Amino acid sequence: MPKISILAIESSADETGAAVLQGDIKLKKFQLLSNVIYSQIKIHQKTGGIVPEVAARNHILKILPIIEVALQNAKLNLRKIDAIAVTAGPGLITSLMIGVDTAKALSFALRKPIIPVNHMEGHLLSALGPTSYELRATSFPALGLVVSGGHTMLVLVKKIGKYKLLGETLDDAAGECFDKVAKIMNLPYPGGPAISTLAKKGDPKAIDFPRPLLGSKDYNFSFSGLKTAVLYFLRDHPKADKADVAASVQQAIMDVLISKTMRAGRQYKVKTVLLGGGVSANAMLRAELDRAVKKNLKGSRLYIPEASLTTDNAGMIAIAAFFQAAAGRRTTYDKVMAKSHWELTKTVVK
Ligand code: KG4
Ligand code: ZN
Repeated sequence: MPKISILAIESSADETGAAVLQGDIKLKKFQLLSNVIYSQIKIHQKTGGIVPEVAARNHILKILPIIEVALQNAKLNLRKIDAIAVTAGPGLITSLMIGVDTAKALSFALRKPIIPVNHMEGHLLSALGPTSYELRATSFPALGLVVSGGHTMLVLVKKIGKYKLLGETLDDAAGECFDKVAKIMNLPYPGGPAISTLAKKGDPKAIDFPRPLLGSKDYNFSFSGLKTAVLYFLRDHPKADKADVAASVQQAIMDVLISKTMRAGRQYKVKTVLLGGGVSANAMLRAELDRAVKKNLKGSRLYIPEASLTTDNAGMIAIAAFFQAAAGRRTTYDKVMAKSHWELTKTVVK
């Protein structure tokens, strides 16, 4: 049975998502038939960030309607689904539990297996959708730059499913830095889009903010000092042009991300660069990384996710699940049912 239809569920933070993917396991080709998101951004804007209990309560309300819409958009009946993929971590446990519980109930009712997916593997592989790109043996090693609200990671991909974490953030993630700087500047949540919009009117060279760990030999990141630098700068220069501050802080984040990615790319002689995570929606990151790969990693191909696959979504979870299924890494219904939420989450949250 090389053909597979996967229903994927994502509920790790404040977006409720469901997606349907259909693929051919033997040919390693797939297509996302639907990718539906209910965003809670408007709700959490009132509090300037996610309130976990509020997020969980809204997932409960939306999860079944969103699944229904995803199936309708894909023109597929629930009975035609072969496996249920679900984000099992990392994320807010109260949010994750809604998705995992729904997946378990569907798995129980349909007697179909569950594929638990690590959220970060979803972001890492998101640029390979919505219709599969052919990655050949010669496309590896690949390098993943995963930049989200909770994580900043450089991952060496020896092949899909075989990963080595080269470095990650020691404190705040890149997206978190955007969010916290926006809060300091009284801009709305989430901060990334707000800062990047304001930055268009500013001069990125106006303020020389620090580039944390730019010269360090490892591949780790640190962004909390940058946020503090912005706080002190605005305290000392209350009349500073806000657009210049936004453009300069965005430039500092970009410089660190791109410089470390280039260095890792050269060291590991990568053939492919995969960009993923909410911050990959940033137009400047997309353009500058493209330029940098062409200049510094000649012969490497850069994959950038399409907009709908950048911030949290179930489409990327379906893509990661497809590759797991293709590799035979399928968790059976019995195994999953034998585990508690906590155990299931622990097995994939590493
Ligand atoms: O991947 P994601 O949706 O959630 C997590 O897994 O954390 O990422 C959300 C993050 C937020 O910090 C948000 O500010 C950031 O992605 N983000 C952006 C942009 N759009 C979203 N950062 C910079 N520029 C953007 N255009
Ligand atoms: Zn995410």
